[in-house]
Amino acid sequence: MRRDDGPGVTRVAIDLARPLGDLDRNVFGGFIEHVGRCIYGGVYEEGSPLSDTSGFRTDVLSLLRELRMGVLRWPGGNFASNYHWADGVGPRDSRPRRTDLAWNLEESNRFGTDEFLAYCAELGTDPFVCLNMGTGSLEEALAWIEYCNGAGQTAWAQQRRDNGHAEPYRVRYWALGNEMYGKWQVGGMSADEYVATATKWARAIRRLDKDAVLVSCGNNGWSDWDQTVINGLAPLVDLHSVHIYTGVDEYWPNVLAAHMAERAIQAAGALISRVAYVKKIEAPPKIAYDEWNVWYRTRDSMMDERYDISDMLAVGTYLNVFVRNCGWVRMANLAQMVNVIAPVVTTPQVAVTQPIYYPVLLHAQGALDEAVDCHVTGPTVDGPANEPRGRWLHRFSDLGPFTVVDASATASADRGKVAVTLVNRSEQDEPAQLVLRDGEFSGPVQITVVTQESGPQARTLPDVAAVTVTEGSEKPGGPVLALTLPARSFALVEGAVSR
Ligand code: AHR
Ligand code: AHR
Repeated sequence: MRRDDGPGVTRVAIDLARPLGDLDRNVFGGFIEHVGRCIYGGVYEEGSPLSDTSGFRTDVLSLLRELRMGVLRWPGGNFASNYHWADGVGPRDSRPRRTDLAWNLEESNRFGTDEFLAYCAELGTDPFVCLNMGTGSLEEALAWIEYCNGAGQTAWAQQRRDNGHAEPYRVRYWALGNEMYGKWQVGGMSADEYVATATKWARAIRRLDKDAVLVSCGNNGWSDWDQTVINGLAPLVDLHSVHIYTGVDEYWPNVLAAHMAERAIQAAGALISRVAYVKKIEAPPKIAYDEWNVWYRTRDSMMDERYDISDMLAVGTYLNVFVRNCGWVRMANLAQMVNVIAPVVTTPQVAVTQPIYYPVLLHAQGALDEAVDCHVTGPTVDGPANEPRGRWLHRFSDLGPFTVVDASATASADRGKVAVTLVNRSEQDEPAQLVLRDGEFSGPVQITVVTQESGPQARTLPDVAAVTVTEGSEKPGGPVLALTLPARSFALVEGAVSR
């Protein structure tokens, strides 16, 4: 599968004079849903010695805080489509317990809107609320928005004040339903029905709240559903959502399937560009990739997935794709954040990180203002001729050949700093050269490398794999940094630049 017939050494050419777009911090977004142990026993655990007076697990909070999420999506997911928000506000002990039809679980409603918004404030992240277009009405959606944002004397705004929140929350991001195309979605519908309903909702919401950022419900970016929804809603919404999960047992297909995100963005982008041109839409929507991850091992409602190093490399690749395409992708939400297909796993005693936590952490910490052109040459691999058929029927080999090292780069607006994220998917160490165009490294660069754990002592929980994080620095020669990327590793390189 591997080909070394081209240049034998990986070369990453970073062109500081070719910006690809401003990087929106919302690309490092998260998602928490009322399912499994994500909220209850994850984010929120009343009575735990590890929780604060609000019931928030402080160990989970500190791990999530490090990820500097621009935005956090809630309450689902599939759960959103039969969630009645008014059940989840007011005195906790009087809140009704309800059946959740999405996951066939019971919902206590002890964590509701005010708790979620307090959680976002703790994290310093913007809330993104998914409206119930399954069993919910437009009236109920409008009431929810007014409860959150109403500044006047209306009953909904007053109810928020009565519940102890004098100031409007100013929630900006609202999704018009979740996966409404799905048979598994409570209230799922046809694309035409969705466009008709979402049109009414969008127009009414805009009357109520001129600051609302509306997200239409897309599928994978290339489906007929996406085409109909984009054609119908592009004049009315700010973002079109895309969901893609990937993952399969075999190493290379698992890692390379993350490139499906590239297909999704290109396809959705083309559909949006077409309708924007034809209908002369001044500010056409961008893309919210509001659910993504590796997910294939678990199928029950706990989704307590365990991740390994190949998943880490897939996640690092996904994030590189989002950075490279940041002109289109203005939001992306890792699904999900705690216990449910998540980077953070809890027990009643401890919260620990899975390998996929680290590319998210380093991307979020390293990323600078703008993505810049970053071109990789070197050894490549082909996707398999017979693509494995796992949970998802993705075909991605036609997108290859793929360089064994995948990279993305960002720079500060003044071009005084550069950050490069490198995913070495190869099973061997790879010599690599980072070459700056239109600038030189002006001092030593910081290099953080994540590799598979070395030694059993690295594990905090026996069934949760760990990684080894190594920090170092190198002195580049002018515009060129030579380094060796360990086999199956993720690396962040950060340096000062002079021009
Ligand atoms: O993240 C798990 C589920 O995946 C979400 O509830 C749903 O939107 C998607 O199908
Ligand atoms: O496996 C079918 C559906 O795929 C799940 O129910 C849904 O959550 C996911 O998107």
